[in-house]
Amino acid sequence: MTNKEILAKTTDLVKVYEDKMRALDGVNLTVHRGEFLSVMGPSGSGKSTLLNLLGALDRPSAGDIYIAGEALGSIKDLNRFRSRTVGFVFQLHNLLPTLTACENVEIPMFEIHISNRERRQRALSLLVEVGLADKADQLPPRLSGGERQRVAIARAIANEPQILLADEPTGNLDSTSGAEIMQAFRKLNREKGMTVLIVTHDPSVARSTDRIVVLQDGRIARDEPVGDPYWRDLHEFKLSGLGQVLMEGKVPPEIHELGLERLLPELRDVLANL
Ligand SMILES: Nc1ncnc2c1ncn2[C@@H]1O[C@H](COP(=O)(O)OP(=O)(O)OP(=O)(O)O)[C@@H](O)[C@H]1O
Ligand SMILES: [Mg+2]
Repeated sequence: MTNKEILAKTTDLVKVYEDKMRALDGVNLTVHRGEFLSVMGPSGSGKSTLLNLLGALDRPSAGDIYIAGEALGSIKDLNRFRSRTVGFVFQLHNLLPTLTACENVEIPMFEIHISNRERRQRALSLLVEVGLADKADQLPPRLSGGERQRVAIARAIANEPQILLADEPTGNLDSTSGAEIMQAFRKLNREKGMTVLIVTHDPSVARSTDRIVVLQDGRIARDEPVGDPYWRDLHEFKLSGLGQVLMEGKVPPEIHELGLERLLPELRDVLANL
């Protein structure tokens, strides 16, 4: 699916919040059109900050971001950019409870001035795409968590964004609903070539994408394709006796013998995120 056209690129991206904390500390990330990737990392490592900057919900302190050939710093109409170029899905679906599933999907299309009839038809076909053809007239409180999140995905792609950004989209769901959500993203990626970037804590969610970027203290610590032997070996190590002992915070004698003490904190962090 992936070709070589660069869709999103950050160069030396830095975000310092008011309290002087460097949430991002020089992130260089390139995403090609049609990629399906995930961003992992410990809590506070900068995942949401990166996502918010990519979606122009916040501004960087330094560095540049290019999306679909445009430098975000020089975009005049950011509302237009947010509503047409990027689609967002968050942990909480933020659907309006008094509007039906279909009406919720229609909301972003008011920005693009199409007829009522076309808007409704597009919303219905988006609901079909996420497997909710029969729920179009249902109110969100009467949908399951997974169904609501799929409505949120349909809404996020209503204006055919260039990139879909999702922050912990399965965070509130049981594993079965989470898997359904990931299938919905995968289908969009395969069938529409949608570029999808998912922030997640969940290793199984990350492994269902094609590439895992790991943030650590605001920097990219790893960036690997899924199926890379690195991840497979590390996962096996985590399940091994030595891995289990390390996860419990103990330092086994092997570590001293191998002289690996200084690697311990990093190793534990990586294992904790597998
Ligand atoms: N609006 C803000 N003002 C000040 N500091 C912030 C703000 N948002 C995030 N931070 C800080 O920036 C760092 C990175 O936060 P961020 O939310 O990006 O982490 P995260 O990787 O998404 O974490 P989590 O997995 O818990 O969602 C954290 O130390 C956080 O406390
Ligand atoms: Mg976050």
